[in-house]
Amino acid sequence: MSGVERAVILRQEECAIFPMTEHDLLEVVEIEESCGLSLWGWDAYQTELKRAEALMLVARRRPPDGSGGRTLRGFIAARVMAGEMHINNVGVLEVFRGRGIGSLLLGVAMSEAARRGGHVAILEVRAGNAAAQSLYRRHGFDVTGRRQQYYRNPTEDALVMCATLE
Ligand SMILES: CC(C)(COP(=O)(O)OP(=O)(O)OC[C@H]1O[C@@H](n2cnc3c(N)ncnc32)[C@H](O)[C@@H]1OP(=O)(O)O)[C@@H](O)C(=O)NCCC(=O)NCCS
Repeated sequence: MSGVERAVILRQEECAIFPMTEHDLLEVVEIEESCGLSLWGWDAYQTELKRAEALMLVARRRPPDGSGGRTLRGFIAARVMAGEMHINNVGVLEVFRGRGIGSLLLGVAMSEAARRGGHVAILEVRAGNAAAQSLYRRHGFDVTGRRQQYYRNPTEDALVMCATLE
């Protein structure tokens, strides 16, 4: 995958999906920390980026005037191997949530995973994370299992969710 896979106008702001690169990692780690996700950190993402099976994307605002600045809005980190897509982390900056950025990231990642031969997508989500579960359901995920007390800080069950990739 190279270049822009898909771009949409989200509430007057053009947002596009790009493959994640090492240059994105400082912002990715900041988003991860601000989202309360299980922390991977810079080194783990950098190592992951080098893996052939990694599927890591970022959502960026595209300033009409080409100006720089902090433009990363969200990211997704997944792997595709043996026909399975494992979604490890998805995060969108809090102030930009509810605009479809998470959906855009997930949709593009699922399409790319299918293109690479993935036929099923799998993830774990906190049992109390209603926003993420709603997003996943809209993309065809169903709950297929529950892992008791899987998460820490705070302790919480994980729901296992799966979707068929087309
Ligand atoms: C989950 C997350 C990535 C979604 O990003 P987003 O850009 O807001 O996603 P979208 O705008 O595409 O969709 C948000 C969905 O959440 C729903 N939502 C938002 N707040 C909600 C709430 N409090 N309760 C239930 N649903 C909620 C929206 O209605 C929408 O649902 P829909 O897909 O059925 O329309 C974002 O909330 C986030 O970064 N959360 C923190 C990190 C996280 O939990 N990641 C998932 C780990 S498994």
